[in-house]
Amino acid sequence: MNDALSPSSTPAAALAAASAAAHPDATPPAQRPGSAGGPTPASRHTSRIIAVTSGKGGVGKTFVSANLAAALTRRGHRVLVLDADLGLANLDVVLNLHPKITLHDVFTGKAQLESAVIQAPGGFSVVLAGSGMVEYSRLTPTVRSEFLNVINTLAPRFDVVLLDTGAGISDVVLFSVSLASEVLVVATPEPTSLTDAYAAIKVLATQQKRQQVRLVVNQAARPGDGRAICGQLQQVLDRFVTTESGRPMRLIHMGDIPADPSVRDAVMRRQLLMLTTPGCPAALAVAQLASKVDATLLAPRQD
Ligand SMILES: Nc1ncnc2c1ncn2[C@@H]1O[C@H](COP(=O)(O)OP(=O)(O)OP(=O)(O)O)[C@@H](O)[C@H]1O
Ligand SMILES: [Mg+2]
Repeated sequence: MNDALSPSSTPAAALAAASAAAHPDATPPAQRPGSAGGPTPASRHTSRIIAVTSGKGGVGKTFVSANLAAALTRRGHRVLVLDADLGLANLDVVLNLHPKITLHDVFTGKAQLESAVIQAPGGFSVVLAGSGMVEYSRLTPTVRSEFLNVINTLAPRFDVVLLDTGAGISDVVLFSVSLASEVLVVATPEPTSLTDAYAAIKVLATQQKRQQVRLVVNQAARPGDGRAICGQLQQVLDRFVTTESGRPMRLIHMGDIPADPSVRDAVMRRQLLMLTTPGCPAALAVAQLASKVDATLLAPRQD
């Protein structure tokens, strides 16, 4: 599989070859236009804030955020999921929640932040953005300061905060990711997803000076695909991306979630997979991911 990378002279070509090696029928990757945005560096108060993000949309961020939250709750953690996809929020849809108060009300001063924190079916807490927050899909000084205030106020009350971000590298997405100390990139094995994941990871290395990000391969076709894809993506990063320290950007493979029809069924029924079919392959994979997150990111701190 490594040979798939060697003759390619651009990241897109290398990733197309990598994806094709995993999926012989794959089509060539599309290019995503770049976008500007200068997020602030992650604050040191955010040690257990994990941004769940992706280059391409629709790859499973909300599914992973909600079900990982349920799995971490089962492991005894106090978990908050924040709908950080301000313009196109849909965590409420997936969880079948109809909140009276959303971030919109908090941002406009109509409600206290406390009243926007609600209980989700999996036993964790959520703060929902509410759909139609179009005015917040741009990073204005208000969005920036309100968002920061929400995180700074709520984070200390939880063991872990998951930020279900939007896709891509817009300034709002990059800002929400900048508030997290850890980044979990979700990608599928498709070449478009890998190319966009690469673009997002490159921006995180250059703009946010990150040295490492974590990768979950969702909708994997076969066991082992995720690890191979992670290795190939790492090789492309080694060739084309240098971090501020001069060391390569490190990609940490956190696990794979197989393509599983139960996921779509759960979404259609607007229920959590971890509750409807906890024994299905995708739910077992999420439980394994939670175990790894627990062991690597949530172990008791020494400080
Ligand atoms: N492992 C899986 N197996 C089968 N289908 C899946 C899997 N993961 C996600 N899906 C399907 O993909 C759809 C999109 O997932 P989701 O809404 O979580 O993506 P997203 O990355 O949050 O999208 P957006 O970028 O729009 O926020 C789900 O509704 C589900 O039908
Ligand atoms: Mg989503």
